[in-house]
Amino acid sequence: MKPPIRRRPRAADASPSGTDGGVPTLAGVSSAPQPGFSTRAIHAGQDPDPSTGSVVVPVHATSTFAQDGVGGLRAGYEYARTGNPTRTALEECLAALEGAEHARAFASGMAAEDTLLRALLRPGDHMVIPIDAYGGTFRLISKILVDWGVHYSAVDLGDLDAVREAVRPETKVVWCETPTNPLLSIADIGELAGIAHGSGATLVVDNTFASPYLQTPLALGADAVVHSTTKYLGGHSDVVGGAVVTRDAALAEELGRLQNGIGAVPGPFDCFLTLRGIKTLAVRMERHSDNAERVAELLEGHPKISAVLYPGLPGHPGHGVAARQMRRFGGMVSARLTGGDEAARALCANTRVFTLAESLGGVESLIEHPGAMTHASTQGSPLEVSSDLVRLSVGIEDVEDLLADLTEALDKV
Ligand SMILES: Cc1ncc(COP(=O)(O)O)c(C=O)c1O
Repeated sequence: MKPPIRRRPRAADASPSGTDGGVPTLAGVSSAPQPGFSTRAIHAGQDPDPSTGSVVVPVHATSTFAQDGVGGLRAGYEYARTGNPTRTALEECLAALEGAEHARAFASGMAAEDTLLRALLRPGDHMVIPIDAYGGTFRLISKILVDWGVHYSAVDLGDLDAVREAVRPETKVVWCETPTNPLLSIADIGELAGIAHGSGATLVVDNTFASPYLQTPLALGADAVVHSTTKYLGGHSDVVGGAVVTRDAALAEELGRLQNGIGAVPGPFDCFLTLRGIKTLAVRMERHSDNAERVAELLEGHPKISAVLYPGLPGHPGHGVAARQMRRFGGMVSARLTGGDEAARALCANTRVFTLAESLGGVESLIEHPGAMTHASTQGSPLEVSSDLVRLSVGIEDVEDLLADLTEALDKV
């Protein structure tokens, strides 16, 4: 009998260790104590509209802003690539959730990553990346940035000695994902910050899988956080977006310059949808975690499953670190099928509640075959994903329906 998943104590607004350090106060809420996570999610950057009283931040569908005389900007806005009030609201909210002063929103997670790496790297620079980075991140670095003279080493970030060995004088960025996509590996953010800073490099954490509700990397020593807001932040599979969040004013200024100069910005309706999703992030993440824990327990005991990858399981190699740096363990579960590639594809084909689709982090459950889908770009590389793997984005449906769906589909494998 396997030991059950250790559920973490639920304090309605308790933050993961150190989370709230340095969080800016809400506009209009200046008195202590610091607002809790959901209060920030619902209100930060979202004061009622001063001209109409609109409680919800309006979709400012405009490309430009009237000036009172040449250069006479009314609220600092001149052209919507440079800035838009709906985007500002999203950026202020994201900064408040990650415990930072600065955030920049982008048209996608990849646009956020590209802009951040252009801010941090120059030809000849080197970066350390996880051996199991998200396939799109790996493609950006290995197939695009290499043409601009960027070098990289792919390392198991769980092996801190290997990270120390990989860092060179020209290493400018240590790129961390935790938990990783799709292997759910865990890296110790505090330890990586020590290694990166010891050699003058910047630690970037892709916090997409955890979301700021479960983990706040800046409080643990990271310099910048990236998000695919397409996932848990948006939360409803209806918008693509990205963000970079930092406490570093100089980096934030450079990001603003590049955001405007490159122009990979989100439209105002995308910002509205993302903000709307963020308001329920805490309750969604609790339910995603509840359901994923049950799914992981079901799969762990199943004869057609050879391994379950979920940091909430006591046997997961990163469980101890995850329990320290995350509030709970999240909604993503990966599993290896005893019957290999054929069985993995059959499982994907036979679920009914879990929809076969790329992406993750929405309210609905999804299943996919990373080796043939999201991570196909890693084929033939050291980051190649084994073909017996399926990835589940466990949604917030009734858990009994999810368990029945997986049980029935496994019967057909
Ligand atoms: C961990 C992670 N980072 C970044 C991205 C890229 O985000 P987007 O698809 O919004 O460009 C993804 C997309 O799946 C992801 O899973």
